[in-house]
Amino acid sequence: MTDTHIVRARYQSVNLHLSTRVPPLSSLTSEQRPDHGVLSSNSRRIPVEFPAHLQANEALEVPRFILLQQGPKRGTTMARLAHKVAIVTGGSHGIGAATCAMMAREGAAVAIADILDEDGERLAQSIESGGGRAHYWNLDVTDEGAVKRVLGEVADEFGKLDILVNNAGIAGENKATDELSAEEWDEVMNVNVRGVFFCTKHAIPHLRRAGGGAIVNLSSIYGIISAQDIPAYHASKGAVRLMTKTDALTYAKERIRVNSVHPGFIWTPLVEDLARRSGEDVEAFRSSLDERHPIGHVGEPDDIAAGILYLASDEAKFVTGSELVIDGGYTAQ
Ligand SMILES: NC(=O)c1ccc[n+]([C@@H]2O[C@H](COP(=O)([O-])OP(=O)(O)OC[C@H]3O[C@@H](n4cnc5c(N)ncnc54)[C@H](O)[C@@H]3O)[C@@H](O)[C@H]2O)c1
Repeated sequence: MTDTHIVRARYQSVNLHLSTRVPPLSSLTSEQRPDHGVLSSNSRRIPVEFPAHLQANEALEVPRFILLQQGPKRGTTMARLAHKVAIVTGGSHGIGAATCAMMAREGAAVAIADILDEDGERLAQSIESGGGRAHYWNLDVTDEGAVKRVLGEVADEFGKLDILVNNAGIAGENKATDELSAEEWDEVMNVNVRGVFFCTKHAIPHLRRAGGGAIVNLSSIYGIISAQDIPAYHASKGAVRLMTKTDALTYAKERIRVNSVHPGFIWTPLVEDLARRSGEDVEAFRSSLDERHPIGHVGEPDDIAAGILYLASDEAKFVTGSELVIDGGYTAQ
């Protein structure tokens, strides 16, 4: 081809056998010049940002992170969230933290939003030192003004917003309904339901501006079936399940997909805390949870992060209003 220019990749001054073709650069205005592309070889495809003054036959320095990230993913095409911007509420711990790390490894710029500043900052630093993009924001999802402000700041810092993961959640008091106070009920509803409402409400204008996007809501197996415990939590997760479907229908035409994820028991600080408050020995509590899952054990945060990643990615472009159950067979019984 004579009418295209080739951009090549270089890592630490070594030329890599990766290249892409772009239209004749001298004929393009600065607005028309591509700002990103995919460098490829027979075995790898690596998304890269092009510098503003891209030259014909220029060799780009490829960041170390991208190469490491692609290393173990032989045979796959490109990072699954390349050029996406995601916010994960409750991102400092547990499922949220695993989701932030996995999304960053898949190429997303990640906003970690939580009330646990130290752990959130540490996670952002560890993602950044691995070559990913992440920034921590203090955000209490029950504060509507803060939700609106932080979503604006995320879009300003990363240029847009494509993905919202409504993950922040609390279990609440483990008391029967007739023993629960109004305050205890409201505390759970405020975080688990109003938090999802506020974040969704204020993310929608940003997703619209980005031309579409994905919202993933963390419900639970306890939004599908019940048990004789934590009544406010069951109610809250049932609410999230149906909020998901309403929003999926409302925003489908705007290419905004909304899905819910329903984890079985996942060993995180939330479940460990339940174990401690049960009065039982923590290990005995864990074993009894293991037995309740046909697969023989509780899950890990990455088991859920993988499902969230799929729903957030363009691989799920035809998936909306669905409920992804990841529970080791718990609800199949
Ligand atoms: N772990 C499980 O077994 C399990 C099962 C089903 C569903 N879930 C759901 O998955 C989500 C994550 O759970 P997890 O187990 O990782 O919990 P976790 O306690 O480990 O993490 C939850 C995070 O949310 C944050 N958070 C709490 N209140 C907040 C608020 N007001 N604003 C912002 N952040 C807040 C916490 O600081 C924490 O970092 C929750 O919605 C939970 O209900 C968990």
